[in-house]
Amino acid sequence: MSDSKNYDVLIIGSGGAGLSLALKLADHSVRVAVLSKFALTAGSTYYAQGGISAVFDADDSIESHIEDTLDAGAGLCDPDIVQLTVTHGKSSIDWLREQGVAFTEEQTADGKKQLHLNREGGHSHRRIVHTADATGKAVSLSLIERAQEHANIELFEHHNVVELITRPTADKANKRVVGAYVLDSKQQKVKTFTARVVVLATGGASKVYLYSTNPQSATGDGIALAWRAGCRVSNMEFMQFHPTCLFHPHGQSFLISEAVRGEGGKLILPDGSPFMHKFDARAELAPRDIVARAIDHEIKTRGIDCVYLDISHKTAPFICEHFPTIYKKCLKFNIDITKQPIPVVPSAHYTCGGVLTDSYARTDIHNLYAIGEVACTGLHGANRMASNSLLECLVFAERASEDILQKLDSIAAAPEIPDWDESKVSDSDEEVVVSHNWDELRRFMWDYVGIVRSDKRLDRAMNRVDLLKKEIAEYYGNFRVTSDLLELRNLVTVAELIIRCAKHRKESRGLHYTLDYPETDDSKPAENTILTP
Ligand code: FAD
Ligand code: SIN
Repeated sequence: MSDSKNYDVLIIGSGGAGLSLALKLADHSVRVAVLSKFALTAGSTYYAQGGISAVFDADDSIESHIEDTLDAGAGLCDPDIVQLTVTHGKSSIDWLREQGVAFTEEQTADGKKQLHLNREGGHSHRRIVHTADATGKAVSLSLIERAQEHANIELFEHHNVVELITRPTADKANKRVVGAYVLDSKQQKVKTFTARVVVLATGGASKVYLYSTNPQSATGDGIALAWRAGCRVSNMEFMQFHPTCLFHPHGQSFLISEAVRGEGGKLILPDGSPFMHKFDARAELAPRDIVARAIDHEIKTRGIDCVYLDISHKTAPFICEHFPTIYKKCLKFNIDITKQPIPVVPSAHYTCGGVLTDSYARTDIHNLYAIGEVACTGLHGANRMASNSLLECLVFAERASEDILQKLDSIAAAPEIPDWDESKVSDSDEEVVVSHNWDELRRFMWDYVGIVRSDKRLDRAMNRVDLLKKEIAEYYGNFRVTSDLLELRNLVTVAELIIRCAKHRKESRGLHYTLDYPETDDSKPAENTILTP
């Protein structure tokens, strides 16, 4: 029996980007479905620590935020997009407060309350609005609560998109999206969702690496779905590694927020000596690419397991008030951060590239939008500045909503779509193939396509991707889809896109560092890498 659902707008992803858009549309009587492949809190948004960048400080300015973003982006940011995003900082924070997000406040000298602002790497001013060190949790829970009570929003947990459904446009010159096939992983059944507009808000792809700060959901599904459907993808070589993740056998790359360095945390070697001043005049507050590479260099040249981040010179009440989550988490591993330094290593953290979009979040396919980490808007260039990501989620949710509201009535309803065909597949008899390939892929991406690359390493990785692609395609063709198989299929596509972009760039720039071309090529204007399917 057919199991088809129809909406005005189908949003794939329940993180900061997806839920913000859902609420903005639903308030205008648009019928919205929001899918999450696991629980609603499964995305990176829930885990965000440091906060959201926006100009609130009297000494700060929009111009300064723009300049810092452009500087971190190493020549590849789109200045118009940076301007657009940064100028919407304050209104985005105001909107979140209206949704019930309680940000940390402080008292001014004359007894008034104002937002407390953190400082992070690359920012020349204090401009990070936050909720202690658990900003994402506060944002996520407020947006989920609002969405759950909204009559025009239906939320679907454990619904994993298998493939986008497209049809030719009326003039046959392009494609339009009309829905998606979706695996209900509780019922183990593929359903059809149709809609006039589909939005990818699926987050990033950092799980392509063995060590990552990201939750399980970050397998780059939206990038792979859009690529297979025919969208261009850009700048995938710029995978960001967060410099400071807890180094502990059971810590699972738990993030130690950049705000710890913003409040004076020092990076030190096992003998207690500082080293960041040797790499950049801004030392601990240099942009992430520089700090992560410096740590990687120290670890590899000295043959040590990790470096240390020390905030113990601050008072215990200060540390516990500003970093309660980090304090408690570390204490579980017998690390008292008020008294001792934290062992840290870099981990894969953020996907600067993604599905190429314009200033209204439109992709190459009609009525298909991409917002949040899945998109490449031009904001981050070759390196995202800390806390600009949640801001981008909010601003591009707003931009997409403006465009969708303006044109929704003129978009034809989705046509009849045939059900997903499972007649030629059977249940897998060798799940070990999927788990083995997951491990193999993430390990060689870490070893060969990580913080420091070379032509040889990229070639090695590409050879392995070619083998895995064949094996996974065969598996996908013969067996019933499972969540693990879908993720693996997407991860291998994303790995290929990262390697292709990295091979294309014959220079080092921002997050892309290669031993074969260690310098930035300033002989010609900097160019984004754009791949066309
Ligand atoms: P996500 O929040 O990742 O949500 C993705 C959604 O898509 C999820 O609901 C997921 O289930 C769903 N999904 C994915 N694939 C599918 C599929 N196939 N089918 C159905 N659903 C799917 N940025 C900042 O600006 N400030 C910070 O302080 C900060 N701290 C961070 C700390 C950590 C530990 C991490 C991991 C990231 C941090 N970031 C921070 C980055 C920021 O959190 C993310 O870039 C941002 O939250 C991404 O939001 P999103 O809505 O695009 O995606
Ligand atoms: C952090 O708190 O260090 C994460 C900030 C970010 O990724 O933007």
